[in-house]
Amino acid sequence: MSHVFHRHLHQHYPTAVSGEGPYLIDAEGRRYLDACGGAAVSCLGHSDAGVIEAVREQVGRLAYAHTSFFTNEPMESLADFLVARAPEGLSSVYFVSGGSEAVEAALKLARQYFIERDEPQRQYLIARRQSYHGNTLGALATGGNAWRRQQFEPLLVQVSHVSPCYAYRDQAPGETPEAYGERLAEELEAEIQRLGPQSVMAFVAEPVVGATLGAVPSVPGYFRRVREICDRHGILLILDEVMCGMGRTGSLFAAEQEGVAPDLATIAKGLGAGYQPIGATLVSEPIRRAIAEGSGFFQHGHTYIGHATACAAALAVQRAIEERDLLSCVASLGEGLQQRLEARFGEHPYVGDIRGRGLFRGLELVADRGDKTPFDPSRKLHAAVKRTAMDKGLMCYPMGGTLDGRRGDHILLAPPFILEESHLDEIVDKLDATLNTVFHHA
Ligand SMILES: Cc1ncc(COP(=O)(O)O)c(C=O)c1O
Repeated sequence: MSHVFHRHLHQHYPTAVSGEGPYLIDAEGRRYLDACGGAAVSCLGHSDAGVIEAVREQVGRLAYAHTSFFTNEPMESLADFLVARAPEGLSSVYFVSGGSEAVEAALKLARQYFIERDEPQRQYLIARRQSYHGNTLGALATGGNAWRRQQFEPLLVQVSHVSPCYAYRDQAPGETPEAYGERLAEELEAEIQRLGPQSVMAFVAEPVVGATLGAVPSVPGYFRRVREICDRHGILLILDEVMCGMGRTGSLFAAEQEGVAPDLATIAKGLGAGYQPIGATLVSEPIRRAIAEGSGFFQHGHTYIGHATACAAALAVQRAIEERDLLSCVASLGEGLQQRLEARFGEHPYVGDIRGRGLFRGLELVADRGDKTPFDPSRKLHAAVKRTAMDKGLMCYPMGGTLDGRRGDHILLAPPFILEESHLDEIVDKLDATLNTVFHHA
C-alpha cells in the first residue's frame, strides 16, 4: 500500500518517470501526449534542456536564501523581466509558490491598500460564479465553483458572486455580444450598489475562464466596462491569470487582448512551466506606493517566497518563450488546433461548443446540441473521458459541473507551446477515439 495521501484514495495512478518534449512516460514505458500541460502548466514540454540547465546552475550556486534576510539575483531579474512586459501600471512583483498563494496575496494586498488609505470600511469582494481561484480558504471563497466550495462553506469568507461571461449559454437569442456584455456590466454595478460602493474592495475575474468553464473568453468590451465601473467606484480590479496568463492565449498577459490593465494580476502555472513551483502577484504602482509610504511593509509572507531556484527556472522559461518567439507559435498552433477540432467535432452529436484562445481550448459536451441539454451528472462523463484518454495515451483536462457546479461537462486542452503540427493531429485523433469509446459504452 502506498503511504502517499493521494488526490483520490481509490485510484491507481501510473508512475511518471520521465518526460520527452510534449510526452510523459510512465514506469511501464507508456507514452502520454500531454494535451493539457497537466493543468495548463507545462508550456515548454517536459525536457527543455535550457531550463533544466538553468535550474542545475542555480541550485549549484545558491538554492535558496530566506527573503527576510536577502534578496537574490534571479528574483530581481525575473521581476524586471515581468514588469517590463506587464500591462501598464503594474510596477512590482510579489513572488509566491503557486496560484492559490498568488490569489491570497492579491486579496490581502487589496485589503491592506485600503487600510493604508484610511478606507477600512472597504471589505467586500465580488467575483463570478463558475470561476476558480484556488483551494486555500481565501481563494476558495473567492471562486465560484459550487462543487469545490460546498463542504467548506462554513469556513469561507463572504464573497458576492455575479454571472460569468458565458456566451454559449447565457447570451440571449437576438442579443448582440456587446449588449450581453453590457447586461453583465449592469449586474456588476447593481451588486456594487447593493453592497454600498464605498464598502467594496475588489472585483476578481479570470480573463479567460479555465478549469471551471473550459476556456471561455469574454465578449468584446466586457472587461473595458468592468474596468470603468471599478474605476468609478474606486474598486480594485484583480485579474487572475494563473491559468490563462504567461502566453497561454497568445499574449503574455491575457488582459492585453481585453485592452485593460488590472490593479493586481496573479500568475503561476506557465510562469515556471512545471520546472519549479512558482507563482506571483503583480502589483500596480499606486498600491505599492500606498504601502511604501504607509506602514512600509506588506503584512504577509511565506517561507519560500522569492525562492532563488524557482525564480531562475521561471526566468529561463520566460526567456526561452521570448527568444524562440513561441507566442507566435501559440497563435498559429492555436488556430490550427481550433480548425482541426471544428473539422472533426463541429458536427459531433455530443459536442455543443468549441471555444478558446491560443493554445487554450475547450469543448463542451452536451446530450442534445439543439437545446444544449447537459448529460446526466450521475454518469460522470468527464471522469470517463479522462480515464479513457489516458488509456489511449492522451492527457486532457475534463471537468464536470460546467453550468452550475453540478451539471455539464467540458474538456480543456492546454498543450505545450512547442508542439509540431503532427501533434495537433495526434491530439484530435486520440480525442476522437476517446469520445467514440466513451459514447459507445455510455
Ligand atoms: C485561475 C486559477 N487561479 C488559481 C488557481 C490555483 O492555483 P494552484 O493550484 O497553483 O494553487 C488555479 C489552478 O487551477 C487557476 O486555474
